[in-house]
Amino acid sequence: MKALPSLNRFFWKYPWHIGLGFLFVALSNYFGILAPKMVRIAIDFLQGKKSELPVIGSWEWVKNLENTPANYLIFLGAIILLYTIVRGVLMYYMRQTLIVFSRWAEFDLKNELFQKYTELTLSFFRKNFTGDLMSRIAEDVGNVRMYLGPGIMYIGNLIFMFGFVLYAMIDVSPKLTLYVLAPLPILSIAIFLVSKRILLRSTKIQQQLARLTGAAQETFSGIRTIRSFHRQAAFSADFEKEMQEMYDAKLYLVKIEALFFPIILCLIGLSTILTIYLGGIEVMKGTMGAGTVAEFVIYVNMLTWPVASVGWVASLIQQAEASQQRILQFLNEKPDYDKEAGFSGSMQGAIAFQKVSFHYPDATENALKNIDFSLESGQQLGIVGKTGSGKSTLILLLARLFDASNGNILIDGKNVKEWSGTALRKQMGVVPQEPFLFSDTIFNNIALGAGDESDPEQLKKRVEEAAKLAEIHDTIEGFQDGYQTMVGERGVTLSGGQKQRIALARAFIGRPKLFIFDDTLSALDTDTEHKILENLQQETKGITTVIISHRISSVQAAQRILVLNDGNLAAVGTHETLLQQPGFYKDLFEKQQIAEAEGDL
Ligand SMILES: Nc1ncnc2c1ncn2[C@@H]1O[C@H](COP(=O)(O)OP(=O)(O)OP(=O)(O)O)[C@@H](O)[C@H]1O
Ligand SMILES: [Mg+2]
Repeated sequence: MKALPSLNRFFWKYPWHIGLGFLFVALSNYFGILAPKMVRIAIDFLQGKKSELPVIGSWEWVKNLENTPANYLIFLGAIILLYTIVRGVLMYYMRQTLIVFSRWAEFDLKNELFQKYTELTLSFFRKNFTGDLMSRIAEDVGNVRMYLGPGIMYIGNLIFMFGFVLYAMIDVSPKLTLYVLAPLPILSIAIFLVSKRILLRSTKIQQQLARLTGAAQETFSGIRTIRSFHRQAAFSADFEKEMQEMYDAKLYLVKIEALFFPIILCLIGLSTILTIYLGGIEVMKGTMGAGTVAEFVIYVNMLTWPVASVGWVASLIQQAEASQQRILQFLNEKPDYDKEAGFSGSMQGAIAFQKVSFHYPDATENALKNIDFSLESGQQLGIVGKTGSGKSTLILLLARLFDASNGNILIDGKNVKEWSGTALRKQMGVVPQEPFLFSDTIFNNIALGAGDESDPEQLKKRVEEAAKLAEIHDTIEGFQDGYQTMVGERGVTLSGGQKQRIALARAFIGRPKLFIFDDTLSALDTDTEHKILENLQQETKGITTVIISHRISSVQAAQRILVLNDGNLAAVGTHETLLQQPGFYKDLFEKQQIAEAEGDL
């Protein structure tokens, strides 16, 4: 057990829940053993043996009651009922404290994990599957909660009940106690073995369930592709295969579970028979009252559940330990650097790459090799190059989503590692190659880039301004719900170009000092592209911009153009100088000239 002690902090965080919880456990068990005593007194009374009731036994009216046996028995019954009700109420509060505590701990732990996820690096998300991240937040935290809640509660219950019942039993007859307790350890071990299998199986079922949901989710997201390739039947067959495995696993579980209760009942029965047999002998010898045997039978039955729960709790703790280990693995994962520390002043936007090389974690070849260039603040940089030549990678390094393997990247003469990550990204407006829109309104998707603008009027103005710059305002107004239109999973499906422009507006709204467009205008027709570029030129005067594109027309105005080839910087220059030399840029320009001319015909 190494991981579970790390959960102890929750006990200190909620001391009242824990303290009161155990008080209720103790009290409810105390009332639990009072009822069987009354049963003994009642049966002994019927056999003519009178014993004094505790506390109230000396009261005059109680003594008088003993003279009318029927009333006295009803009176004893009423006391038993009263004890049971008190016990029930106490058990209610025991759950209200201990189980509620575990829900609070679960709440904290889930938030902690989620917060952690948001801080971790991109490489972390490449290493771990989404399904795995989700299951740690859902299943594993759930397992840990089972330990913190029911686990702790049953352990406490077991300790107190065993203490009280054992004391009461030994008080009445030590010898009988020994006999009737003999089968209980067997019961515990048997249940441990069975519940271990049950848990193992349930884990398998959980995993299978994760695969099923994963398969279903992927099918639904890819439904267009599946339909257009007419692969419905194949996907259904795959799903059915997974479902069949699920079915088999579940059926096996049901079979084991079906064994569970008969085993418990069998062993309880064994203890009960032993009690009655051995107790009966004592009663015949006259050394014990029949009431005592009845009392014992009740005790034995009271003990069985806690003892049965030992095995269950033991396997539950094992499961929680494994889950907590997995959780800790993530919680102890270090973010690559402290996002707040470092320089957080305002950015001018001068960029310099000094002999920068980079290879992706676990990739063999360098994605960027010895890249060296610089750009003054306020200038425009164009980047062209074949697909896979490293253009997007260069941006990832600039935004410090990855650190360069070799060389330095400077912004305003400062290494990006000296900048505070927060300040760096706040002042940088990146429109990624594959923009992601959240399942939310268009308004909120754009406003996401506004950071912490709190004035709603101001925010509305800024969102519309940004949308106009991105040439998407009119389109949005044309939607039935305007800016309140839902996009993403639950809303309208936007065209590729519309998505790109919303992402563009999202970057505009942040008023960055350094603009980066990764192939952002690719899905737009040339007219719209020109309009946006014009808007850009006016709005981004004096703002450094980096434009990645496959179209010469998007980059030709730039003061500096990089041509990347296979991770190398093949050429640097302006539109004019690059056209002077044979190579990728000149070829691309000529091809696009011809295509444009053909388009015009
Ligand atoms: N996360 C990654 N892990 C490993 N290799 C990667 C990763 N992302 C990209 N690569 C590889 O790095 C190289 C450069 O990729 P990059 O995305 O920078 O190309 P690009 O120039 O942006 O291409 P495109 O024009 O198609 O967008 C490619 O060979 C690609 O396979
Ligand atoms: Mg790219």
